[in-house]
Amino acid sequence: MNTSNIVNNASNCDSTPKTDKINDKNHWETVYSKYDHTELGWFEENPKPSLNLIELCELNSDAVLLNVGAGATTLVDKLIDLKYTNIIATDISEKALRVLTDRISSNKNVKTISDDLTNPTVLKKMEAVDLWHDRAVLHFFIEEKDQDTYFELLKSKVKLNGYAILAMFNFEGATKCSGLPIKQYDAKLLAEKLGVDFELQNTFNHTYIMPSGDARAYVYTLFKKVS
Ligand SMILES: C[S@@+](CC[C@H](N)C(=O)[O-])C[C@H]1O[C@@H](n2cnc3c(N)ncnc32)[C@H](O)[C@@H]1O
Repeated sequence: MNTSNIVNNASNCDSTPKTDKINDKNHWETVYSKYDHTELGWFEENPKPSLNLIELCELNSDAVLLNVGAGATTLVDKLIDLKYTNIIATDISEKALRVLTDRISSNKNVKTISDDLTNPTVLKKMEAVDLWHDRAVLHFFIEEKDQDTYFELLKSKVKLNGYAILAMFNFEGATKCSGLPIKQYDAKLLAEKLGVDFELQNTFNHTYIMPSGDARAYVYTLFKKVS
């Protein structure tokens, strides 16, 4: 892999592809080592769209909340503030998870798991969850076999009456992020991938403004596992 190309484009949710190796752990380790997480093209000071959907779930404070591809997201800090006691952050990048745990001073209510969603080992064995939250991870999986692995894991891990929040670039959005090609989604496509056991509860488009000032168009969705 050409690391210099990745580094030059790693913080941007745009630009031409700089690597043909998708989901490469080294890519993400480089991104989180090279840049402060607040500079990254997906940094949110206040993850309000996610929090609004989480509120709709009316989860108990001891509900198991899994944030996949969490990176160093501030959503974890907000969930701690909201007094949730069973938060799990998982990511392929150990560096990202270190940035996160350092920031939250290894809060006892947060567990981290380093694993690859396209080849899960630890995640396969983990407990079932009340909430699966994914902002901007699934869309990196452009190969169908990786999407299948992802949805298989999600379906097997979300409890009956549990929820999945999926927030991805929509069809008006960018076609690349962090120098990697992405797959765009809308609520209908996500519903098809989840199948009949998951019912769409809420969806909206959201324009996210990157630290650079550029705009990115996301679709947010909330699904409930009904059968
Ligand atoms: C665009 S960032 C989004 C981070 C976070 N969800 C947020 O909204 O701030 C994508 C994240 O997915 C992680 N990631 C990429 N491929 C992955 C994989 N195969 N398995 C697990 N995490 C992955 C990256 O390390 C990175 O933290």
